[in-house]
Amino acid sequence: MAEEKINPAVENVPQTDLATEVAAKAVEVSDVVEAEAPEIDIAEGAAEGLENDTDVYAKPINRRDVREALAQVAIPEESVPDDTPDDGRTPIIFLDNVQVVFKTRTGSLLHPNRVTAIKGSTIKLMPGETIGLVGESGCGKSTTANVMCGLQPVTSGKVYFKGKDVTKRTAADRKVIGRVLSVVFQDPATALNARMSIQDQLLDPLNVHNVGTPAERAKRVLDLLEMVGLPQSCLQALPGQMSGGQRQRVAIARALALNPDAIIADEPTSALDVSVRAQILNLLVDLKKELNLAMVFISHDIQTIRYISDRIIVMNKGVIVERGSAEQVFNHPKDEYTKLLLGAAPSLLHPDLGQGD
Ligand SMILES: Nc1ncnc2c1ncn2[C@@H]1O[C@H](COP(=O)(O)OP(=O)(O)O)[C@@H](O)[C@H]1O
Ligand SMILES: [Mg+2]
Repeated sequence: MAEEKINPAVENVPQTDLATEVAAKAVEVSDVVEAEAPEIDIAEGAAEGLENDTDVYAKPINRRDVREALAQVAIPEESVPDDTPDDGRTPIIFLDNVQVVFKTRTGSLLHPNRVTAIKGSTIKLMPGETIGLVGESGCGKSTTANVMCGLQPVTSGKVYFKGKDVTKRTAADRKVIGRVLSVVFQDPATALNARMSIQDQLLDPLNVHNVGTPAERAKRVLDLLEMVGLPQSCLQALPGQMSGGQRQRVAIARALALNPDAIIADEPTSALDVSVRAQILNLLVDLKKELNLAMVFISHDIQTIRYISDRIIVMNKGVIVERGSAEQVFNHPKDEYTKLLLGAAPSLLHPDLGQGD
């Protein structure tokens, strides 16, 4: 799909405060991508361009049937309770019974309609582990991501970073959060400045946080490029001169600049061409292993989630309907919605994927 189609939607988002702006972008971009993705083309493209055995996207499914079936499933009143094993360590992020309610533009000024985007989520991200967050568009994944990285205030509940209560998100809290945690968005255009060279984009977080000497920063930029598999020749390039996959590599390099403990990747491959999705996914898998990163990986594709996650959380309309180890959720799903998600996404080229090892 052409990237030019995605960007105008992003630019049309009215300027509001940062949190709403980012949230709005996430919603609009995902809508545009889903609306414009011709289902049959994706399947054909994937089959043609299949280069390696990790192309988990190569599976023609009829999204419309799936959506209709999923929409029939009743939504439970309450989220499934947290099941994180307590091994004495402090979680990097701890969302304690978090609720987020948005006022929508529909309804009247005095009586705006409300959407509960997250209903009582408790999530602990432990050091070095990857949590996969999956559910259909609009189920509250991006809102959860935004709460985790301090962009979205909560309506009720608490947010802790490494044991510290940061629910109020002071400027000092945000600076700490920014060093511990980085975000990779669906559309790299969200993270990159179109007028800044790649070198300057990567230097920027180092300068803001006063890391090292100028020479050390320059060296760090080169290391970052190498980590994400980009040549040094792209240092002076502008984002517009690169492909979508290369831009997402730059966004990942920028996210890694400050040596974070954790990365939140919100649909990091969904806006990319099918042919480069598997490469970006593999890059993230390699990086999290090498750097021992914790990760929250968000996708509406349950097979992608399985590929990358240690633990899986399934959301339906703001409610956590299922959670457990990747093995549990895939081999012994308890929830009707999860079963549908799994059944609806057979991997034709990888019949074993999703069927247990
Ligand atoms: N800034 C916002 N203002 C109003 N409603 C919002 C805002 N952001 C998200 N929502 C609504 O909250 C729900 C969850 O959205 P989101 O977290 O973006 O879902 P996902 O990322 O799973 O697609 C949706 O119904 C969406 O329309
Ligand atoms: Mg989203």
